[in-house]
Amino acid sequence: MPGVLTTGFVVLVAVCAALLYPTVERLGAFRTVQPTGSRDCITVPELQSCEDIALDHSTGLLYAACSTVQDRINWLHWLPEIQDRKQYEYLATYDASSRTVKRLDIAPGGKFDATRSASLHGLDVVPSAANPKELFLYVINHRLPATIDEFVKNGTVDVIEVFKTRAGSATLEHLHTFSDPSTMIGANGISGSPDGKSLYFTNSEGKKMSWRDTLQRTLEMFRASTSVVYCHVDKGCSFVASGLHGVNGIVRAPSNNTLYVASSTHALILVHEVSEDGTIVPTETIPMGAVLLPSLRLSLIAVEGLPVDNLAMDKDGVIWAAAFPKAITLATCMQDYTFQCRVPATALSVSKGKAPAPYTVERVFEDNGTITSGVTAVVHDAERKRLFMSGAMQQWLTVCNV
Ligand SMILES: *[C@@H]1O[C@H](CO)[C@@H](O)[C@H](O)[C@H]1NC(C)=O
Ligand SMILES: *[C@@H]1O[C@H](CO)[C@@H](O)[C@H](O)[C@H]1NC(C)=O
Ligand SMILES: *[C@@H]1O[C@H](CO)[C@@H](O)[C@H](O)[C@H]1NC(C)=O
Repeated sequence: MPGVLTTGFVVLVAVCAALLYPTVERLGAFRTVQPTGSRDCITVPELQSCEDIALDHSTGLLYAACSTVQDRINWLHWLPEIQDRKQYEYLATYDASSRTVKRLDIAPGGKFDATRSASLHGLDVVPSAANPKELFLYVINHRLPATIDEFVKNGTVDVIEVFKTRAGSATLEHLHTFSDPSTMIGANGISGSPDGKSLYFTNSEGKKMSWRDTLQRTLEMFRASTSVVYCHVDKGCSFVASGLHGVNGIVRAPSNNTLYVASSTHALILVHEVSEDGTIVPTETIPMGAVLLPSLRLSLIAVEGLPVDNLAMDKDGVIWAAAFPKAITLATCMQDYTFQCRVPATALSVSKGKAPAPYTVERVFEDNGTITSGVTAVVHDAERKRLFMSGAMQQWLTVCNV
């Protein structure tokens, strides 16, 4: 009997290890960070904790949704301290040619309530199809519920704000707030339309979960519970894809109907075709990171890839993805209230490849936490040859000449 038990136990451990290995590998437990790419970079400390950034390609102006590291931690951990903040989250622009930061004000008259904004998350900037001088800004806003007690128990209430502006202007005109608790669960990445009326966003969680509930969060990583939602001013919001693994960044090609969605936990980009009515149809998947040649650890190693966060597309149609070569350090840093810890970062570019590989995934930039730390968004200005990198927990914006 003991022999059978021992064998059973060994088999059980082996099965668990086999199941867990790709995840542990993907979290970067065994990976070494290899500094790669341009070191011709500057840091902009005025732009701290910008979870997402977006480029106006025609002017080269960068838009950013920023905060402070302390606020981000308070929000992530649902800490009541969030009500004691001295400043609120803000949107800003960065002009790399003059190195100037401009904070954007919201024109009075709209329904935007800054005092309830707990955390700004995914951001998209889209030139208006009707008036090329105008830009639409789409931003995910994690709002405080009515009481702080509700926040401590259930976290924030997600809404999506739409603004109108002109490149260079310091004022945003608030157009619309999308609010739909049945589909806005853990809103994360966003991709807006050029008419200011519709958008796609990802829910990176299937239900509200506090960071304090580590076990539940970890188990969720193995479940296909995340989704993509389409919202239209006239039609409301509806799920267009669900049962997905850990979706996060989302970007739509400006010239056609292709929608790219990052699956963080599976290290993939899921490619979809957008239909007239807003629904989406999956077409193909792009694996992130090298798929190594078969080896002894073959089937397990072959799934190695980097967890990806936000996606952006440059003027040449190349997709840029923020990735975590050692995602495991991110979890540790989220518990670090000294803000001294550093999270290695990778910027991946995904371009059309030559047959037989339909796509080429390149590590354009990698850093051990010196120039960047925990990059959640990478934006490439193909025309002016600049790479912008920001992060929810990064205490500056990084700008590199590439
Ligand atoms: C938290 O959410 C649950 C489920 O939606 C609800 O029943 C509960 O009343 C909420 N708690 C607070 C304090 O609002
Ligand atoms: C859509 O546009 C992107 C970006 O330019 C391009 O890579 C992709 O091949 C296009 N897709 C189709 C189906 O034409
Ligand atoms: C990162 O690498 C640099 C040199 O390449 C080294 O000086 C520094 O200590 C490293 N930092 C961390 C956090 O590992």
